[in-house]
Amino acid sequence: MKDLSAIKTRLKELRRLIHYHDYRYYVLNQPEILDAEYDRLFNELKGLEADHPGLITPDSPTQRVAGQPAEEFAQAEHRVAMLSLDNAYNADELQEFEARIGRLLPGERFQYVAEPKIDGLGVALIYEKGILVRGATRGDGRLGEDVTQNLKTIRSIPLVLREGLRELGVLEVRGEVFMRRDAFLHLNEALEEAGQPTFANPRNAAAGSVRQKDPSITAKRPLDIFIYGVSYAEPNPFKSHWKTLEKLKEAGLKVNPRSRFCQDMETVTRFCSALEAEREALGYDTDGVVVKVDSLDQQRRLGTTTHHPRWAIAYKFPARQAATLVKDIIVQVGKTGAMTPVAVLDPVEVGGVTVSRASLHNEDEVARKDVRIGDMVLVERAGDVIPQVVQVILEKRPPDAGKFVMPRTCPVCGGAAFRPEGEAIVRCTNLACPAQLKERLFHFGSRRAMEIDHLGEAVVEQLVDRGLVKDFADLYRLDVPTLAQLERMAEKSATNLVIAIERSKGRGLARLLYALGIRYVGEHVASVLASHFGSMDKLAKATEEELSGIHEIGPRIAESVALFFSQKGNLKVIERLRKAGVRMAEEVVAVPQAQPLAGKALVLTGALEGFSRDEAKNLIERLGGRVTSSVSKKTDYVIVGRDPGSKYDEALRLGVPILDEEGFKELVARGGGR
Ligand code: IVH
Repeated sequence: MKDLSAIKTRLKELRRLIHYHDYRYYVLNQPEILDAEYDRLFNELKGLEADHPGLITPDSPTQRVAGQPAEEFAQAEHRVAMLSLDNAYNADELQEFEARIGRLLPGERFQYVAEPKIDGLGVALIYEKGILVRGATRGDGRLGEDVTQNLKTIRSIPLVLREGLRELGVLEVRGEVFMRRDAFLHLNEALEEAGQPTFANPRNAAAGSVRQKDPSITAKRPLDIFIYGVSYAEPNPFKSHWKTLEKLKEAGLKVNPRSRFCQDMETVTRFCSALEAEREALGYDTDGVVVKVDSLDQQRRLGTTTHHPRWAIAYKFPARQAATLVKDIIVQVGKTGAMTPVAVLDPVEVGGVTVSRASLHNEDEVARKDVRIGDMVLVERAGDVIPQVVQVILEKRPPDAGKFVMPRTCPVCGGAAFRPEGEAIVRCTNLACPAQLKERLFHFGSRRAMEIDHLGEAVVEQLVDRGLVKDFADLYRLDVPTLAQLERMAEKSATNLVIAIERSKGRGLARLLYALGIRYVGEHVASVLASHFGSMDKLAKATEEELSGIHEIGPRIAESVALFFSQKGNLKVIERLRKAGVRMAEEVVAVPQAQPLAGKALVLTGALEGFSRDEAKNLIERLGGRVTSSVSKKTDYVIVGRDPGSKYDEALRLGVPILDEEGFKELVARGGGR
């Protein structure tokens, strides 16, 4: 057994290395090592700490996501108030600002620092002897919320400072937490997919994520930060703002690389125009430029009002908001059947672009903002994000404006709309809904569904646009001469497609169910339903109660499946599929296959040599097992391949049996091989 001091030394070294590589990756954007190598360090640290929990320190990289969900945030008092900024809207007003400070400090010259004004959430971080001890929101400027646990999850916030400022007893820095636009769009897609409410813009997403009660959720949000200044230091070694920024950068804090030192106000003005031109390309939202007097001595002598510092001003870019009339509220149906209310607007120019529509997201959002036809509303545009209705101008509401009611049927096809319990999105459930047809067909033919080779997006596109296919069943009536008319489709490929369609008829009930694209019926649920009912007829007749009585079928799935089969239109398509010769029963295996993994839960981590992820998964399922995504005490085996992730550590920690690839093959061999 290693002695304790050797372990302590190694722990210290690992933490130092991980902090360093976090800095290279998240702050400098210049990683030095491969992810796998980083993971190895991290896993070693986690392992050592698990064996010696007494040696875990709050600044350990493993402690980024360590907090428990909070009931309520504690109050955090700001030692120095977090003020707002006075605004300037053009070059003249910047000149006026300079004249004003010139009157306060007669005869002095001013140099400036110009920085992008990030549109996010202002926070204050306190480091004591180089260790992050508190992070707080701005709140009302004097009293904010203690969101330390949440801020610790942001990888570009160092838990420990590097050389330079580590020695300071107290260092309080201020910065803006934000979300990059692409990350924001991804997040919204994921939220929408999960049926959860989306965010209106990156700022709301950042603020919502930081003020989220469960740090483990914050940890999954793609947040970032730019530190823009020091509000308190003990002792205070800083002389000028520009040099302060340089020191902060050296200490490992993420400072905006676009900030510039400016000799005079003319340079500042040029910077403002340049940044405005770059605004869209920055990748994150800015609403202007913050111009700060560089000399800290001058800053001190200029002082502050109760609202803002006299030594700084925000040059604001033209507003991206405008008021306009809601002429109508329509409901659009997306390719996955999601019904989205959209405001049809009197066209209005917002930040240089004419806007005539704005997304209202979902039923709850319309209700929350209470947007009605005939209302005057404020619309906002941010980057390439869809224009948003920010709020209703209530004073201008006509007396007869009635509340918006979300339709219960699809406006495109009249099919039943379904909004599951706890979800924000209403969806059309009609198989043949033209709005969804292309997406549905593409899924129907995909490899794990009916596996129709050659039914690519370009083909689906043409089949639907030319009216050749109106539902799945139409696929089975296509012949070579018809297909050969399509663009980029020669006789040979038309023949191949017809053969592929023909072959797909025999895929069996489980894959057919998955192919139908019923909400919540993924591959696994489809195979559960198929093996329980054995035929489409029996499944179609099952009641919601019956369905939810099945192991692994929850009320959400049951409701969705029952609604699907209650629709005449869907039953008609299924009937036509049957007539076309599509098999509606599950494979009946004459000799029952050995099911060595029956009822077993397995987790896969790392790369296997002999199988792709999908192959391994299919194999396990065929042998009666189940593949789950996370390790728990209920997991029966964890299969570990090359470069395993944290699931491996979790398995070690929980004492779950671990198999390498050889062990996995043996397990499989016992069940009759691949
Ligand atoms: S300096 C004493 N610099 O804008 C005022 N603020 O409208 C110090 N902000 O609360 C503010 N980027 O949250 C400063 N580069 C930047 C900024 C910035 C964004 C935010 C900050 C502040 C608000 C004031």
